[in-house]
Amino acid sequence: MNQRHRLIGRRSFLFGLGSLATMSAVATSKAAYENQQIQALYDPDRNFIITEGFSLKERAAKKGLIYGAAARQIDLSSNASYAAAIVQNCSMLVPEWEFKWTAGNATLRPSPDRFDFSAADWMANFAATHDQLLRGHTLVWHDSLPEWFKTSVNSRNAAQLLEKHIQTVVKRYAGKIHSWDVVNEAIRTEDGRNDGWRITPWLELLGPNYIDLAFRLTAAADPQALLVYNDFDLDYDTPEQEAKRTAVLKLLERLQTKRTPIHAVGIQAHLFPGENKFNPSKLRKFLHDVASMGLKIMITEMDVADKKLPTDVKVRDRIIAGVYEDYLSTVLDEQAVIAVITWGLSDRYSYVSQSQPRSDRAPVRPLPLDAQMQPKLAWNAIARAFDHAPRRN
Ligand code: XIL
Repeated sequence: MNQRHRLIGRRSFLFGLGSLATMSAVATSKAAYENQQIQALYDPDRNFIITEGFSLKERAAKKGLIYGAAARQIDLSSNASYAAAIVQNCSMLVPEWEFKWTAGNATLRPSPDRFDFSAADWMANFAATHDQLLRGHTLVWHDSLPEWFKTSVNSRNAAQLLEKHIQTVVKRYAGKIHSWDVVNEAIRTEDGRNDGWRITPWLELLGPNYIDLAFRLTAAADPQALLVYNDFDLDYDTPEQEAKRTAVLKLLERLQTKRTPIHAVGIQAHLFPGENKFNPSKLRKFLHDVASMGLKIMITEMDVADKKLPTDVKVRDRIIAGVYEDYLSTVLDEQAVIAVITWGLSDRYSYVSQSQPRSDRAPVRPLPLDAQMQPKLAWNAIARAFDHAPRRN
């Protein structure tokens, strides 16, 4: 190796060392920040006492609110105590898989010209049998598209396919659906568009009017349903989530200018304590901005991932409960918030176990009931938030 190469070699080696040192410094400071966050969240003496004797749906209803949960046919049909807990606690049911194009073992759309309503009908019947409101999730999303979508859908037939899907699915349940997540997760500022929109197959196939089109088709197929735009990462005081909130507000303004039939915003509220700063006034301003457009707000997929939290279950449960109560006491102060839905009811069937597994491989504890259907402090926290919420006008 000649002198020049030796010099570059040495320089790149030193640079490598330097960047390793920088990376480990950043990692250390990030870990330190997260530890600091977690310590700030843990109060061993915090009070989660509740008045006994009322379910979550009863406590919500006393304030004119709805409490519900997502659930799957496969779990409701195989676990009677889980089904009983869903009925006892939830005045609303959200099929987690069955109203998507395809998800899990449910395939509403087995092919471009076929529909299989067996799973969706089972869930709709479960809700009707137990006098629960039914929520449709979701008609237009970049995820949960069947394998055939990529090869069968193009810019010439996409509008007709979307119209057929919405008209067929929405008309079948017209009058039975409280609210539809018409479009899900259409904003992703990291994709680099000026409008902050996610670059999805629907945007590429139909252009920026796909959102307005989806809402108009849904409104025509079921004039009674509340039509919702649903998204995530709208909760925390970070530059990225502030940018996303701004992009969502711009989307809503665009839709209202076009007189799109949109009635509500769904805030998924998948929360991650120990990672991001929660700033109640930032979140309350976003809620106020949405409400001032005349839109309602639903908390649509709430859970609290414990990925960054200590292994100790007692510590974890207290932190998670505190996150539930702090977040809900913030959002329920906004009169436009009409519903709180958790993404599951029991830790046994939580999406978080697949989406945010813990590095220590301990079972996750993100939801109100534990895996044995027993209430945890998170259940108390949600109950307290409903008990202390202002009554809806
Ligand atoms: C998730 C389900 O919980 C999973 O079981 C499935 O495999 C993928 O979809 N945001 C959404 C939900 O809007 O539809 C997603 O649900 C979770 C993230």
